[in-house]
Formats: sequence, C-alpha cells, structure tokens
Amino acid sequence: MKHLLATDGLDPAFATAVLDTAEELKHTLLGREVRKLPTLRGRTVITLFYENSTRTRVSFEIAGKWMSADVINVSASSSSVNKGESLRDTALTLAAAGADCVIIRHPASGAAQRLSGWLAEAGTAVVNAGDGTHEHPTQALLDAATLRERLGSFEGRRIGIVGDVLHSRVARSNIHLLSALGAEVVLVAPPTLLPAGVESLPVTVSHELDAELPALDAVMMLRVQAERMHGGFFPSAREYSIAYGLNERRMKLLPEHAVVLHPGPMLRGMEIASAVADSPASAITEQVRNGVHVRMAVLYHLLASEGAAA
Ligand code: NCD
Repeated sequence: MKHLLATDGLDPAFATAVLDTAEELKHTLLGREVRKLPTLRGRTVITLFYENSTRTRVSFEIAGKWMSADVINVSASSSSVNKGESLRDTALTLAAAGADCVIIRHPASGAAQRLSGWLAEAGTAVVNAGDGTHEHPTQALLDAATLRERLGSFEGRRIGIVGDVLHSRVARSNIHLLSALGAEVVLVAPPTLLPAGVESLPVTVSHELDAELPALDAVMMLRVQAERMHGGFFPSAREYSIAYGLNERRMKLLPEHAVVLHPGPMLRGMEIASAVADSPASAITEQVRNGVHVRMAVLYHLLASEGAAA
C-alpha cells in the first residue's frame, strides 16, 4: 500500500488498521506535554493545496510534525502554479526536491490518481486530501474513527448522510467506507442534490429527513457546496434549511444515543443550527481532534510500517 486515493475499493482490513493505529496514537499522546514521536524523522511530507482548506491542511501538518517529519506546505496561489506550471511539472518538482509523500487537494476529480501515476517512478506516496466531487478518504476515516469511538461498532448501525450529496466528496468517501465496515447508509437529499447512478451505490435513498431521523444512530450533515453549483439546485437557502436543515426540533426526533457529525466548514443556520452544532450530541470538535490522529496513522501506514515500500 503506497497511496491513499479513495475509500472505494479500500481493503476494510487496512481501514480498520488505520483506525486502530489512530486510537493507539491518541492514547499514547493523551496528556503528554511533548506531543512528538520520532517515527517519521528524516521523512519529507509536502501538502499541495489547490483549494482552500483550514482543518484538512492544518491537521495533516500537525500530524506530520507530531511524527517528526519535515512538513512543507505549498499552496497553488503562492507557487509557480500561478505562473502557469502544470500539475505534472509541479509534482515532479516536489518529488525531485525530496518529497517522500505528497498530500494533494485539487478541484479536479481524479487529480490524486493522476499524480500517483506521475510519481510512481520517484517512489513518492500520494494522499488524496479531496479531489473535486470525487473522494476525500482521510475525512471518511476520521469520521469512522469518531463514530467507532461514540457508538462502539459499525455492524447494524444506520448512518444518515444529509444534504448536498451530489457535490460532496465527503459523502462519497463515507458511503464506501461505512458500508465496507458494516454500517447501513441512508442518503437524505432533494432529488436535485443526489448523484446520477445513486442506485448503484450501497445506500438507501430518502427525501424526507423527519421520517429518517428516529431510526438513525448518526447523522452527518453536509455543507451546501455553492462554489461547485452552476444553476439552481434548490429554490432558496431558507427553503433548503426548512426541508433539510438540522434544527432543534428535528434533533429531538433522533434517538438519545445518536451522534451528529459535520465535516466543516459549517454554515450555521443553513444546514445545521448553532444549538445543534454545540450540543452534547455533536461530535464535530472530536472529528477535528481525531483527524490529527487518523492522519498520523495514515502517514505511518504509508511511510513507516513494515511493507510500506511495497
Ligand atoms: C470538506 C471538503 O473540503 O471536502 N471539508 C473538509 O475537508 N473538512 C467539506 C466541505 O468543504 O464542505
């Protein structure tokens, strides 16, 4: 295993190993004053971001640093990409400069896969940190870590993914990972925000949020991705919120043990009410915290564990 490009087709045993390592790392670092392990000393990790990000970029950087890797952040807006350099040339430059791993976020679906082809010869690992509307595997892994922590197991658990599924790489990665780990996934969205070919995904589909909530063990709210929308996908923000927003009234329809997730950034008052986001049912801050440990675990399995160079 050299790259982490998608959860579609990812070996569930590998995913579980990442979750186990992340949990171990979390416990190891808990309460430590110096949060630094020597595992990736001498390794160079580069984050290459062509799209905005707060939590994903920061948590990859922290993850690398806590593992003692040298971490360098490249953002398209301040690199030679702005002078017209192609993705391929940029990638080859980073590999030639000594990158052991490139973590890429890009607006084009498939960009991480392309990169992994170009970097195969250099032996540089590639992690997909979000490619267009395609996949965001480390987000799904950190969501799974958070759910496992709160719910104990995936078997027989019913997870709702609500909102702009069409444009969401987070939804796609979660659909594949959660179902491979044994959970049932139900997509709740207006017909205009569901992807073509949804019938072929391992999910059930609903358009009625109120009807689904009482049977859910967790509900994952998605941001409405206005930047990827060209045209009217719903009548107005207010109508979207009324039909698909998780407000306080709706939260009461959930079972008591149910967990509320959101990958961030949240549009408070749109897809989620502030009172819900800040309630004890919400695991949104835990998601961010677990994101660091999960990304440490991913870097470990790609760069440090036995057989990593295979
Ligand atoms: C998501 C992304 O960029 O795909 N954010 C994240 O990585 N936590 C979701 C989003 O932007 O809505």
